Amino acid sequence: MNTKIKEFENHINASNRSLRLGDKSRAKHHLKQATRLMYELAYEAQGDVKETYFARAEKLYHALSNFDGESKPPSYSYEDETEGESESNDTARIQTSNITFDDIIGMNELKQQITQSIIKPVTNPNLFKGYNTPKDHGIFLYGPPGTGKTMMAAAIAGEVDAHFMTLNASDILDKWQGETEKRIQSFFAEARSYTRCVMFFDEMDALMPKDSTSSGAKQARSELLAQIQGVNQYFKNPQTSSDTLLLIGATNKPWDIDPAFLREGRFGDHRIYVGVPGYEGRKTLFEKLLNTLDTKEIIIDNTLSGDELAKQSEGLSPATIKAIFHKAQHRSITRAESTNEKRLTFEDFKAAFNNTDDVYEIDKEQVFHDWNQTN
Ligand SMILES: Nc1ncnc2c1ncn2[C@@H]1O[C@H](COP(=O)(O)OP(=O)(O)OP(=O)(O)O)[C@@H](O)[C@H]1O
Ligand SMILES: [Mg+2]
Repeated sequence: MNTKIKEFENHINASNRSLRLGDKSRAKHHLKQATRLMYELAYEAQGDVKETYFARAEKLYHALSNFDGESKPPSYSYEDETEGESESNDTARIQTSNITFDDIIGMNELKQQITQSIIKPVTNPNLFKGYNTPKDHGIFLYGPPGTGKTMMAAAIAGEVDAHFMTLNASDILDKWQGETEKRIQSFFAEARSYTRCVMFFDEMDALMPKDSTSSGAKQARSELLAQIQGVNQYFKNPQTSSDTLLLIGATNKPWDIDPAFLREGRFGDHRIYVGVPGYEGRKTLFEKLLNTLDTKEIIIDNTLSGDELAKQSEGLSPATIKAIFHKAQHRSITRAESTNEKRLTFEDFKAAFNNTDDVYEIDKEQVFHDWNQTN
């Protein structure tokens, strides 16, 4: 199945699950991600499917705009079709990733750092042979939503050509005594069975919370620490293993994580802040998006440039920028239906910009830096 559809379904499931658990902001977050993915799917699809996906995306967008967390939960258009599916679906968990660093906008320094310390030891082990330096395997990515943390994890897996396992709290935590431990053991056993594997713990704050009150999270804590210790002993030592097992964790709420997991040898070998892009990053992203348009078919107003759009979008995450781009396209398509002229204008973008509540003011980034200073 198309991994994007799978990812979409995961977000819908996660949104519904969060609503059931009363976590409205997480529910909204997942609904937003699902909406964005449905727009992306619509743009990639052809013919009738395209129409269906667009209608779905619009419905989701509407549900999202009206989502205040207080009223009755919106019914998502896709829900009926995904209901009854297992929430921890194996095919969703394990993939090989075809995302590479080239797909990620910006973060050049970061990519270089990761290439040197994580990727090269895997792809060019001969270079490191004899030095007997311990292999780092823990990476912790933190920063505001939609900035590419999940994407970065997938890209690292793609760069080292590893199996990519995504593990969410809902895959692992179970209220039954002993069940959580068993799941964790089997995930790690499976990861070890691959020559190269990246275990990606998304939304670490939910799986490894600072104040774990649920019995599932308490069971998870000690079992996870024990398993990570095992990985450390075996994989970190180049003399015992030439295999690779990387542990990557990500969160947009680092302050909610149990600090024990952030120590060196666990996820703390590399602590990496993934922030909103600067002007250059935004410009590149807009240019890349504009370049996907077929100018034989569509007129792009000459007032529309990467430069201008980048100036208008300070503080926006790449995920939001992509969503804005899709909204603008859709506005243009709707107009083209009646005017018979396919034209993308600055007004289309303005309307989309006005519609976003996602501006990540620079001072909000400060909370991450403050947390990093004190932890
Ligand atoms: N640096 C980037 N370059 C290109 N696209 C990006 C980048 N960051 C995010 N995106 C786009 O935004 C989408 C969402 O990004 P992603 O899921 O990686 O964000 P995240 O940081 O994990 O967010 P969250 O904290 O909400 O989990 C990606 O699928 C991709 O389309
Ligand atoms: Mg993420």
